[in-house]
Amino acid sequence: MKRMLLVNGSPRSDGSSAELLNMVSEKAAAAGYECERIDLGKLNISHCKGCLSCKETGECAVKDDMSPLYKKFQDADAFTVSVPVYFGNETGLLKNFIDRLYALMKMNADGSWNVRFGNVKKGVVALNCGAPDGNMIYHGAMTHLVIIMRMFGMTDVASGIVPAASSAPVRESQFTKDLMGSIDFLLSS
Ligand SMILES: Cc1cc2nc3c(=O)[nH]c(=O)nc-3n(C[C@H](O)[C@H](O)[C@H](O)COP(=O)(O)O)c2cc1C
Repeated sequence: MKRMLLVNGSPRSDGSSAELLNMVSEKAAAAGYECERIDLGKLNISHCKGCLSCKETGECAVKDDMSPLYKKFQDADAFTVSVPVYFGNETGLLKNFIDRLYALMKMNADGSWNVRFGNVKKGVVALNCGAPDGNMIYHGAMTHLVIIMRMFGMTDVASGIVPAASSAPVRESQFTKDLMGSIDFLLSS
């Protein structure tokens, strides 16, 4: 069975990011994926220490709630990240998680990346924010996350920003509907 790992980058496990993940899970389950959701806010994940020992050992020297997630990531076929905008960017929670994934990457002598991310080829980036014009002003934040997904080896990435998420239910937003349409396309190919 195909597997999708879904990461909630919000400290809130029942907010807008979580609701977007619920919607993606429904679609992924209908497309035959086994889904597992990870709420970063419930975990104790330290920041990367920058010690670079992972470049020698292939493993992160920091042992915490991140440790079991490496294998889950490597066993996944698809990866979804849903995150609110905090001060114009992803949350620190998500950034710490991403930085720790550096343990699975090593630069080759020619400057290309050797990435040990298994088979994860499809990705979803769902951003949400309070600003009503956030779909226009946070494109840089979204592109930054899409580029990271591509660095991790994902070839097909669907992405979208849901603005005004603090003032209206995300499930009913046209921006959510557009994003879900892209996810249908992503999962059908
Ligand atoms: C610390 C903090 C910083 C925020 N910064 C922004 C911001 O820069 N721009 C914005 O549009 N919304 C900002 N917001 C609002 C959240 O992005 C918004 O409420 C989001 O829908 C929360 O998602 P959640 O329910 O999944 O936690 C911020 C909220 C918090 C708590």
